[in-house]
Amino acid sequence: MKVLIIGNGGREQAIGKKLLEDNPFLKLYFYPGNGGTKIIGKNIDHFHSLRKLVCFAKKENINITIVGSEMFLMEKIVDMFHYQKLQIFGPHYQASRLEGDRSFSKNFMKKYGIRTPDYHTFRCYQRAENFFKNQKGSFAIKTNGLAYGKGVILVHNQEEAKNALKKIMIQKKFGKSGETVIIEEFLTGIEATVISIFNGKKIIPLLSSKDYKKIGENETGLNTGGMGCIAPHPSFNDSIWKDFKKNILTPTLEGLRSEKLNFLGFLYFGLMIHHGKVYLLEYNTRMGDPEAQTLFPLMNNNLLEVFNSVFLKKEIHFVWKKLHSCCIVLSSHGYPLEYEHGKVIYGIDSLKEPFYISGMKKIKETWITSGGRVLNIVGLGNSIKEARNLAYDKIKNIKFENMYFRKDIGKI
Ligand code: GLY
Repeated sequence: MKVLIIGNGGREQAIGKKLLEDNPFLKLYFYPGNGGTKIIGKNIDHFHSLRKLVCFAKKENINITIVGSEMFLMEKIVDMFHYQKLQIFGPHYQASRLEGDRSFSKNFMKKYGIRTPDYHTFRCYQRAENFFKNQKGSFAIKTNGLAYGKGVILVHNQEEAKNALKKIMIQKKFGKSGETVIIEEFLTGIEATVISIFNGKKIIPLLSSKDYKKIGENETGLNTGGMGCIAPHPSFNDSIWKDFKKNILTPTLEGLRSEKLNFLGFLYFGLMIHHGKVYLLEYNTRMGDPEAQTLFPLMNNNLLEVFNSVFLKKEIHFVWKKLHSCCIVLSSHGYPLEYEHGKVIYGIDSLKEPFYISGMKKIKETWITSGGRVLNIVGLGNSIKEARNLAYDKIKNIKFENMYFRKDIGKI
């Protein structure tokens, strides 16, 4: 059996490691992969177009392809695989707009009565700036398109709003993604994530989790792809689950059905718990990174059987270890802006599992940094405290020049 995994992060290595742990005879391929995926499979990073990748998948008789990274979804990778009658786990282009086109996504939420913060869409800089003339309070300014999780700027006054809009719409720091912006009412509260599997008929949630998106401690500084994560989320109690199902999950399912956005893949709900009510901030149409690294060590199901059940439209019941998981991301100093790479990493050989490789590559026998997010260290314990202590203990043995990590992951 051959499985192809698309992406180059810790998430893709986590999917691969979990598949192999459950099915040691699987043959794994990664496109483009990273230094870590190279140890557990074959990186096929030499194709310069998705068309060539599809030809490869057909020729090599790849049984299942799993899309990790959102970047390929908006390039219609799923549609291209389907055209060749290849099995692929992920949304087709139209459904991937739920993540890749924020105004499409917010309109979908509004149309189906999904609880979400109020918002306004602007294509013109001047109009967006004028909007702030009569406003008080805080807002999130978001790029309409994909920006590796970084295209969100929080503003608290007119001056900050002007600077953020200039950065996105005039200086085009996020490229074409920022040609349109969404200005969203900023809600305070507790952030949470629920990732689910959509099998075309039902949305089946995994465990709740909490992602730490900001680069700085106490949620300060720039947005990143994620600097750490814990699961299950301590605030996601029965009444929050009930509220989530009623006001977010059920109307989402109704919307997906009505709009014929059926697909087989992950659906990620980025949430805010505000005064005891759950609001949907965003959908992602793939697994999270570092949520994958946090959740898979807790999963008792055989992951290949999960994917196969989805393709066969069979029921899935998730079974989880009665443990807590805490993942801490080690990054290169400077990330999410500019950072240096090529730094020697010490301590990997004696590092205990679970851990997942992101921006690292091996040159001869030496590991060196090759990306912003470098390595994901996971602790599992009977409580969040035990899990986080274990994860931070494991970090003590890892060293590289300019290594950075948040010290407050799991502190809540
Ligand atoms: N950790 C957030 C994301 O994967 O988008």
